[in-house]
Amino acid sequence: MAADLWRSFQRERGVVAAVQGCSFKIHAGEAIAIMGPSGCGKTTLLNLIAGLDVPSSGRMEWPGLGSLDTLRPERIGVVFQSANLMPALTTIENVELPILLSSGTEAKARALAALAIFGAEILASKLPEQLSGGQAERVAAARAIVTNPELIVADEPTGQLDQAGAAILVDRLRAWGQQTGSAIIIATHDERVAAKMNRIWRMRHGKFESMVERSACTGTG
Ligand SMILES: Nc1ncnc2c1ncn2[C@@H]1O[C@H](COP(=O)(O)OP(=O)(O)O)[C@@H](O)[C@H]1O
Ligand SMILES: [Mg+2]
Repeated sequence: MAADLWRSFQRERGVVAAVQGCSFKIHAGEAIAIMGPSGCGKTTLLNLIAGLDVPSSGRMEWPGLGSLDTLRPERIGVVFQSANLMPALTTIENVELPILLSSGTEAKARALAALAIFGAEILASKLPEQLSGGQAERVAAARAIVTNPELIVADEPTGQLDQAGAAILVDRLRAWGQQTGSAIIIATHDERVAAKMNRIWRMRHGKFESMVERSACTGTG
C-alpha cells in the first residue's frame, strides 16, 4: 500500500525527483508490470516497494506482511537487475542463502525445488561465473521464491534471456504466484512479458501515466 510516495535524490546539479506522488495498492495473487523509458523511476519505485529504500515523503506500508524489519528475506523476494548472485557461492548455495538467513531447515532440498521450477536444478553446483546471463536470471528467480514470500519484486528479470526463455521464466513465476497466492511486480521493457501480467503500470518522469487492468488474464486475487 503506497500513499503519495515521493523519492528525491540530491545531485550536483540539483534535486531529482525519481518518484513523484505515486499511490497504489497491491493485492495477494496479483501480477503487475511496471513499464516506461529508462530513468522514469522504475527501479526507485521497486526499491521502495521492496522496503530496500525509504520514501522522502508519503507512506509505504505492507499491511498484510508486517513491519519493515521483518520483510526480507522471508516475506518479500527480490530479483535484482543483472541477477546479482554471490560470486563465491555455487548456484545452490546462492539459492539456499535466504533460507539460511531466516530459518535454515532443509535449505538444500528447498533450494533444489525452487531451482527446478525454473528448470535450473542441473546448474546447482556451478559458480555464477560459469553461468550465462539468462541462466543467472533463472537462478535469481529461484532465489527470490525460495522462502515462499508473499510478494516478489523483480527489476528487469528477463533482460538477458531470449524471447522464449523470457516467456518461460515469467510463465513459471506467474504459475507459482497463482499457486501460492503471492503478488508479483516486475519492471520490464518487454511488452510480451508485460502482457502476461494482469495489471500494467506505465511510468514517465516519476509518475504513473496509466494503470491498466487486463481483465482477460486476471490472477487469483
Ligand atoms: N541513488 C541515486 N542517486 C541519484 N539519482 C538517482 C539514484 N537512483 C536513481 N536516480 C535517478 O532517479 C531517476 C530514476 O532512476 P531509476 O529509478 O533507476 O529509473 P529506471 O529504473 O526507470 O531506469 C533517474 O534520473 C536516476 O538518475
Ligand atoms: Mg531500472
